[in-house]
Amino acid sequence: RLNGVEFAVADLTLAGSGRHQIRLAEHEMPGLMAVRREFADRRPLAGARVAGSLHMTVQTAVLIETLVALGAQVRWASCNIFSTQDEAAAAVVVGPHGTVESPSGTPVFAWKGETLDEYWWCTDQIFRFPDGETPDLIVDDGGDATLLVHQGVAYEAAGVVPQPTADDPEETRIVLDLLRRSLAGDDRRFTKLAGRVRGVSEETTNGVKRLYKLAAEGTLLFPAINVNDSVTKSKFDNKYGIRHSIVDGLNRATDVMLGGKLAVVCGYGDVGKGTADALRGQGARVVVTEIDPICALQATMEGLPVVRVEDVVEKADIFVTTTGNRDIIMTAHMARMKHNAIVANVGHFDTEIDMAGLAAVPGIVKTEIKPQVHEWRFPDGHCVIVLSEGRLMNLGNATGHPSFVMSNSFANQTLAQIELYTKPDQYSNEVHRLPKELDEKVARLHLDAVDARLTELTKVQAEYIGVDVAGPYKPDHYRY
Ligand code: NAI
Repeated sequence: RLNGVEFAVADLTLAGSGRHQIRLAEHEMPGLMAVRREFADRRPLAGARVAGSLHMTVQTAVLIETLVALGAQVRWASCNIFSTQDEAAAAVVVGPHGTVESPSGTPVFAWKGETLDEYWWCTDQIFRFPDGETPDLIVDDGGDATLLVHQGVAYEAAGVVPQPTADDPEETRIVLDLLRRSLAGDDRRFTKLAGRVRGVSEETTNGVKRLYKLAAEGTLLFPAINVNDSVTKSKFDNKYGIRHSIVDGLNRATDVMLGGKLAVVCGYGDVGKGTADALRGQGARVVVTEIDPICALQATMEGLPVVRVEDVVEKADIFVTTTGNRDIIMTAHMARMKHNAIVANVGHFDTEIDMAGLAAVPGIVKTEIKPQVHEWRFPDGHCVIVLSEGRLMNLGNATGHPSFVMSNSFANQTLAQIELYTKPDQYSNEVHRLPKELDEKVARLHLDAVDARLTELTKVQAEYIGVDVAGPYKPDHYRY
């Protein structure tokens, strides 16, 4: 704590560099800045306490400062141990008007290269507002913050936190330990917290899946807005964002020539489509794996062969998992790969590559080439290069998606937060999506910056296709 601002970041003196990067990002985030300007006077988030768990990047800094400009009091952690940009974290703490000696910004608990213990400590900090206050709103990415609250409430109701079993991963032990300490210390802390939260807005596919599961079980404790499935989020950030950051991550990590290489993209959803497009743009020979016949057929229409991992495991140079699923690249696969094959994941969780199995291979040797780049030498002498320990490598090895695309995502996030805070009666404990008017608004806010001139419907045309001149222009079932 310095000058009343709490924080846990790598190095506050990085704030100057962070502030310059935020300044440039603001210019590249026209939609988010337009929302900031539109609501700055009304301050619809005045009095709101926002707990955020989302990659602490330069772009996220612009989101945080937008929420603050709209009146919110914010606390923030990253949603991945490797994704923080330390200069952005420092700049948010120092704030636009503070100094390193006298910060006046927003509490941030995030640094690049957290341990899992530290990660969950940071996540818990976002809920601890001064004077025992709790958040009104959560911004989540992947659902870890929401999960912590839900687990906390369940164990408070039961009065006991279960012991982890021997088969549980280390992370389960860490979360259970945290919740056990919390149960011992505070009186029904998460139950009180959950009762006061007006809602969560969730950023990504995997987090949204968790929310729908809770809603289906009838155990979702507060309203949720699925930001991921705004068209201006998943059809842009997931696809075009990764098209930028996948190559950035591969280059910064390995600098290997991508042209000519055989690259396997596992999963051909939104992220897979962007990944395949980017690698093909570099001249790589791209093949795709899929379980869904529709996505498989889409890949073939783009001229991308659809294969099974087993078919190409000995020939391919680069493997990228984008499925949001588990057990995609297994140790048995890596044992058969070419020498120095690169194995990378951009799905949200580290479940896609069998890292535990890899570490358990008798005689395997792990060498750190540099942070977040590891060579694993099998006893037969061949190596695989694993990026970011199997975690999101576009954020671990690079800096994630570029500002312009995140402006779309975060304009949706900001509108979702305003909806949840200002219209508490309109949102039940279900998973909601933003109305299409707002989706179209977010897109509209970005058109000038890319010099796009929209054609306006005539009244006759609007009647002919059955829409309003001002939109929405498509029915909800339209898939873009
Ligand atoms: P999606 O659902 O559109 O695509 C995933 C695809 O993987 C689906 O088509 C599915 O059929 C396929 N799939 C599932 N299991 C498979 C298997 N065993 N083998 C082959 N294919 C399989 O989801 P989306 O939006 O593309 O997201 C994918 C993941 O990326 C999620 O974990 C999401 O949270 C994450 N994400 C990561 C970002 C990043 O910056 N790295 C940005 C946005 C999303």
